Parts: sequence; structure tokens; C-alpha cells
Amino acid sequence: VTEDLTIHSHAGPYTVSFESAPLPDPACWLDRPHHFLVDANVAARYRVRLGPILDHRNTILIEATEANKTIDQITPVIERLIAQRIRRDHALVAIGGGIIQDVCCFVASTLLRGLPWRFLPTTLLAQADSCVGSKSSINVGDAKNIMGTFHPPTHVAIHHGFLDTLAPADLRSGIGEILKVHAIEGLAAFDALAAEYDRLLADRAVLRRFVRDALRIKQRFVEADEFDRGVRIVFNYGHSFGHAIEAATRYAIPHGIAVTIGMDMANHVAVARDLVPRAHRDRMHGVLRRNYEEFARVDIPIEPMLTALTKDKKNTSTMLGLILPTGDDAAIRLVQVAPDDAFRAQCVEFLEELRA
Ligand SMILES: NC(=O)c1ccc[n+]([C@@H]2O[C@H](COP(=O)([O-])OP(=O)(O)OC[C@H]3O[C@@H](n4cnc5c(N)ncnc54)[C@H](O)[C@@H]3O)[C@@H](O)[C@H]2O)c1
Repeated sequence: VTEDLTIHSHAGPYTVSFESAPLPDPACWLDRPHHFLVDANVAARYRVRLGPILDHRNTILIEATEANKTIDQITPVIERLIAQRIRRDHALVAIGGGIIQDVCCFVASTLLRGLPWRFLPTTLLAQADSCVGSKSSINVGDAKNIMGTFHPPTHVAIHHGFLDTLAPADLRSGIGEILKVHAIEGLAAFDALAAEYDRLLADRAVLRRFVRDALRIKQRFVEADEFDRGVRIVFNYGHSFGHAIEAATRYAIPHGIAVTIGMDMANHVAVARDLVPRAHRDRMHGVLRRNYEEFARVDIPIEPMLTALTKDKKNTSTMLGLILPTGDDAAIRLVQVAPDDAFRAQCVEFLEELRA
């Protein structure tokens, strides 16, 4: 029985393969005209193993920073690819986490009006979440993920060995997205995951099972609504607040951890607005807090956070579009919220509680 997933996208099916080899064999990736976009950190850590790829003339190293995910910083990458004489029968290969993926996917979807791209995700967040879904997301100034395209990869190969060198905060960042996906699936799925939280960190087999479960849950939503016009919107749970927290702290908090704080904040706001019983927030709070504890005391200034919230893609001209739990079963859905004094007070209250 293969663990691999076949994802059906508008551009055709593609495979997410769970490789048994901990790390990739470069020979398998040098058999075609490829241009590699590689996370500089990954290149440094896997210098020997990835040597033939890193020494390839068509390899570009990129520091995985949010600043390098801006349109300004992508232009030099495109210029390099043009200098490398990239053609439509070539493919791009991203080796890194969500940042390298976003850069690669964006370039692949626009350069020469579309090129194939393949992905070797090296972070837990990219392996468990972002590798499926077709999206590229690019920053403009402090407006995070404000621009982008839908352009699925042609193949995703997951090698678990990359996780061995991840910083603990980056491991928790990936777990944040796994928690989010399971919360969307429902209370039972979330509780089952929360009960295994310690083993997730300690046992790779358990982690691998939840990575695959998270991708399968996401697959259902992405196949039903690849272009994010309907049901897929719930995947933004924790993200409106999470992106605003990232922007307000100048990205001092890893993405998936900001999303974990964002879910707790969404739950707090939902309770304050009588959308969901208090017991729901309490039920999720313990494991969310454990996942973001290391960053709970990072200063999140309220004004920049609220300003960033008003730039969210889901807003209308007068209302914030927030993804909140609602009802006795805490179903996640889009709720229009006026950016008024009451909402502001709910945010302030949460941030004060966070630091307490
Ligand atoms: N396009 C999408 O669908 C989508 C979905 C979710 C998130 N994202 C984006 O992804 C980004 C976050 O991605 P991420 O969490 O994967 O992190 P990342 O790409 O920012 O990488 C996090 C850190 O881990 C390092 N790193 C990567 N692989 C490593 C490894 N194997 N060993 C040691 N260090 C390694 C990187 O150099 C970086 O310092 C955000 O910009 C977010 O907006 C995109």
C-alpha cells in the first residue's frame, strides 16, 4: 500500500510522494534541464549530500526571509534565470520551506507565462501544509501574502530526514498548521491530535502519520475549491490574526506559531462576541498555548496589528472578514466584524492575557 497522495488540480494530477530515503538522491534531480532555487540554510546544512545540485550552474541560493518574498527581491532571481537561458521545456525545483516555495511557485507561474516546477519541502510546515494547494503568496511592503497566483507543482517529494536539522521553533511552526487543519476537520480530530502532542515532537512515525492526515484533509478542500472562492476559506483560521501578528512584530514569530496565537485570538474574539461557548476556547487553549509558549511574551503592538488586520484580503471596504469558530460544534466559518471600539477592546484584552 503506497502512502503517496495524488492531488487533482486544474492543471492535472500531481503526486505527493512520501519517500523512504531520509534525504533525496541528487542524481534523480539532475536528469532533466532544471533550475534549482535552494534555501541557503539548507544548502549549508546539506552541503555534502546535495553537493551535485549545489554545484550545478543553474542553482540559485536564497535566504529564507520574508523580505526575499517581496516582488522587489524576486526580480533579481528572474534576471538570473533569464541569464541561465531558461526555456519552457525546463523546470524549476524548489528546495526549502514555504518561503522558497512561494518564490519558486510565483516565478514558475509568471516567467515565460508558465513553467513546470517541482518541490522538495524541507520544513515541517511545507511538508504538512503548504506543499499542497497550488498557491503562491508574495509580500508587498508590509502587506503580507497580498499578491499571488495558483500554479500547482508537478511533483512533491517528502524526505523526512530534512526535519532532523529544523530549529525547535520551526518544528512547532509546522505543528501549528497541523493543529489548524485538524481544528477545521472538527473537534474529535483536534482532540485526537492534542492528545498526541508530546509524541508528535518525540516520535517521527507519529509525526509522519499526522503530516499525511493533515495533507489528506487539506486535499479535500483544495480539490473542492482550488481557487479559494468557497469552502477553502476556512483554511485561513488563525491567519488573519496570525499575519497581523507577524507584520506587527516584524516577523519575530515564525509563521505557524503566529497562526497558533491567531487561533487562540480568534477563539477569544468568538467567545467575547457570543459566537461560541467559553468551554470551546478552554478546550483548545492548553495545547495552543504549549505550542506558542516560547513566543507568548514577544511584544505585539496593538496599533500596527490592527492596521495590518485592515489590509487582509478577506475584508470588504467596511468590514473585517474573520474566520471564527461558531456554534456548539465550533464550526469554522467566515464572519463579518466591524473594526469598531468593541472589537479593538477584545483584541487588547487577548494581548494582555497573552503576556500575563
Ligand atoms: N503558498 C502557500 O500555500 C503557503 C502556505 C503556508 C505558508 N506559506 C508561507 O510559508 C512561509 C513559512 O514557511 P516555513 O515555515 O516553511 O518556513 P521558511 O521557509 O521561512 O523557513 C523557516 C526557517 O527554516 C530554515 N530551514 C528550512 N529548511 C530547513 C532544514 N531542513 N533544516 C534547518 N533549517 C531549515 C529556513 O532557512 C528558515 O530559516 C511564510 O512566508 C508563509 O506565508 C505559504
